[in-house]
Order: sequence, then structure tokens, then C-alpha cells
Amino acid sequence: MTAAHTAAYLQCIEGSCRARYDVDGKFYTCPRCGGLLDVAYEFGLDDRNIDSVKAMFAERKSSSLPIDRSGVWRFRELLPFVSDTTKAVTLAEGNTALYDAPRSADYARLARLTLKHQGLNPTGSFKDNGMTTGVTQAVALGASTVACASTGNTSASMAAYAARAGMRAVVFIPAGQIAYGKLSQSLEYGATVVEIEGNFDDAMRIVRELADETDLYLLNSINPFRLEGQKAIAIEMMEQLDWKPPDWVVVPGGNLGNSSAIGKAFKEMFDLGFIDRMPRIAIIQAEGSAPFYDLYSSGDRTVFRPVSKPATLATAIKIGNPVSWKKALRAIEWSRGVVEKVSESEIGDAKAVIGRDGIGCEPASAATLAGIKRLVEAGTIGEQEWVIAILTGNLLKDPDYTMNYHSGRLALDGHAITGRFANKPLRAAADKDTIRRLLEL
Ligand code: F0G
Repeated sequence: MTAAHTAAYLQCIEGSCRARYDVDGKFYTCPRCGGLLDVAYEFGLDDRNIDSVKAMFAERKSSSLPIDRSGVWRFRELLPFVSDTTKAVTLAEGNTALYDAPRSADYARLARLTLKHQGLNPTGSFKDNGMTTGVTQAVALGASTVACASTGNTSASMAAYAARAGMRAVVFIPAGQIAYGKLSQSLEYGATVVEIEGNFDDAMRIVRELADETDLYLLNSINPFRLEGQKAIAIEMMEQLDWKPPDWVVVPGGNLGNSSAIGKAFKEMFDLGFIDRMPRIAIIQAEGSAPFYDLYSSGDRTVFRPVSKPATLATAIKIGNPVSWKKALRAIEWSRGVVEKVSESEIGDAKAVIGRDGIGCEPASAATLAGIKRLVEAGTIGEQEWVIAILTGNLLKDPDYTMNYHSGRLALDGHAITGRFANKPLRAAADKDTIRRLLEL
């Protein structure tokens, strides 16, 4: 099967609308009703050739073609919206490891826990999976400038892929609220960085208005082509597991694009016969920025109430008005999923435990382990069930957080957060005997 045999179109997700549009339209929501859009397909696959498609995915691992070396484009039959994949803008993204994490499993009282480390991507976060498809679509549409609002990782990734494509990149970030590792990446990759005096939600509102009124091509996850690439996180995971789904897949939730993409991927893989059941999806939010948890636990899941002053030291998910909440809710419904929230100290401790497995991640990613611990304690996740957590960003993204945790200086709005696993550096005179005594050698 090639892309030529597959019809791709945009479709409104609203049940009352379901309008369809060509994939070469430059809009981000439904022009008719304002609803979110999916990239949808008539895949033209039947049960008989699923095994041969799986074999083709595997064969490409030994190919030297850039699109075959990408852990996104290698699965292009499952995201076939590009007519000419030789023009894909790729940095060999994806291809991220699955790690068994025995200390983290113990901490959450699970028999077994596996971590899929998206922080091993070229710019250090899962955003690269979606940015390769988003920037490729920007090129196909003839855009010359791409833009996004960001808590740091989207902007770093967009800046890198725009640089590869020779495009101008403009990023809008909440001033003083993103980790330096991320901000420095955007500067280094040559993006124009605008620090907005406001929070992420303010930056998002402004960039959406600008994208409607100007030639800026918007690459936030409201852009459905971004989410097509992020589907590959789930597809690659299934390939690594020989297409046998785990019981649970756990992700942090901020703007809710990633959970939406992963839900769509599992649904499509299930409908096409690549897997024989859907894993359950758990989305974890930080307590001070948990509007989706509030929606999930409220009686009426049609009324979304944004959080006006989101607060968390996990700045990646400090978002009060996530654009993709309807798609994320759909993912929860498709997968019989759940939503949980966790405190600042739970995030800090979980992050340190992931470190003790020799892996490490940024704060938002650690919300997964903190959430899993809570869900096991509540009996929602069984101790013998097999759980995979997605670590969304690299440990090195936010060294300030890590240093503050280990030296007992972590605080949110003046409230100290004490870590159970703090590992302070020792200080000693430059004298061997003193050091022997200190280390009890
Ligand atoms: N983890 C990390 C490390 C992130 O950077 C983000 C989002 C999330 C989790 C949440 O994913 O938004 O798809 O629910 N970061 C965005 C950004 C908002 O601008 O970098 P989500």
C-alpha cells in the first residue's frame, strides 16, 4: 500500500458537524462550526495485509533512507497525508527506548513498570515526533514562517525543525516561566523569541489570533498534522512490544495534544487490526493546573472550566485552558481511561525515583509515576497489571528544578516543597583524610 491508495482529509470531530475538508486547507479548526479537526483516512488496508505492513515497518530499520530512519515516517502507512515523503523534514526523531524501571515499579507498588523515554529525541522531548510532520505540512503548504505558543518544548522543537527547513520561526513564551534548557534551545536554533507578559494561555490566545490574521503557520497541537506525528509514539511502542498492548499507558496532561494523539493511534491500530485490544489511557495533571481532572470528575463532561491562574513547578504542564480537551476526553472514552492529579511534592519525589533507575526526566514527565502510585493505591491499576509511562522530556531540560529539589530549595508561591529523596552535594576541604572520614572509607 502506498499513500496514493489512501484518501486523507480533514474532518471536524463534532458529532453534529463532521464536515470534511481537503488536507491542503490552511485552517486549524472547523470553518463551519469552530470544532477541532482530525486528519482522517480511508486507509484501504484489509486484515490480510496487516502482517506485511508490520514486516515492512521492521525492514525499514535497516534502510539508510532518512524517512526510513525516522521513528515517525517509518510508519508512514499509518499517517499517510503527505503525497511526497521525500520532502519530509526529519531529524531521525522517535526511535526512543523502552526501559524496565524496577525501582520506580517498587515505589508505585507495581510488579512491573516500563518507561518509554521520549526525552531521547533530537531536541529532548516528544514534541519532535509531531514537529517533523507539522513542519513537513508547513513546507507542503508553502508557508514561510511558523509560529507557536509554548511552555518551552514545543518552541525548542519547532525552532529546530524550522531551521532544518530554512523557515523563519517565531515563538511566544510566558516571560520568566519556562525552563532555561528549553529557552536556550530556541535561541540557539535561531528562532525569534517573544516573551509575553502573561501565562501560556495568554500566549496561546495571541498566537491563534495572529495565525488567523496573518501568514504565520500555527504549529501548536491544535494543528492536527502535529498530532499525526505524535501517534508514532504509540505505534513505535506497539512495534517494540511485538504488537501486544500493555494494560495501561500513562501520560502527563497539559495542553492535551499528546494524550489525544496517543488515543487516536491506539483507536486506529485497533480498528485496522494491528492490535487486538486498546490499552487503558491514564492522563495525569499537576494539582494546581488540573482543569481536565476537574472536568473528568464533574457530573457534566460537556462544560469545561478553565483554571485562570494555573500553578505548578512542572512548567511544561502549567496550562489552565488546554485546547485539545475534547479530543483527550474522546481518548479517555475510547480506552476506558482515567484522569488523576498529583501534588508538587509527589511530582518531585517521583522524579527523583525515576532518576534512581538511572533514567531521569523533567518534572512534567514524572507526574506519570506520581499518578501511577496514586492509581495503584486507589486500586484503579492492579499491582500485577503492566503499565507503560511516557517520559515526555529529558532530565537536562530543567536543571534548576533538579538542583533545587536536591538542595532543599524547591518552593511554589513561597511554600517550601520538601523532597524525600533529596541528595545534597557534600562539601569538603581539599584534604584526603577529611574526605576519607566524610565518606567513611
Ligand atoms: N510533558 C512535557 C515535557 C511537555 O513539554 C508537555 C507540553 C507535556 C508533557 C504535556 O503535553 O500539552 O500534549 O498535554 N508542553 C507544551 C509545550 C505545552 O509548549 O512545550 P500536552
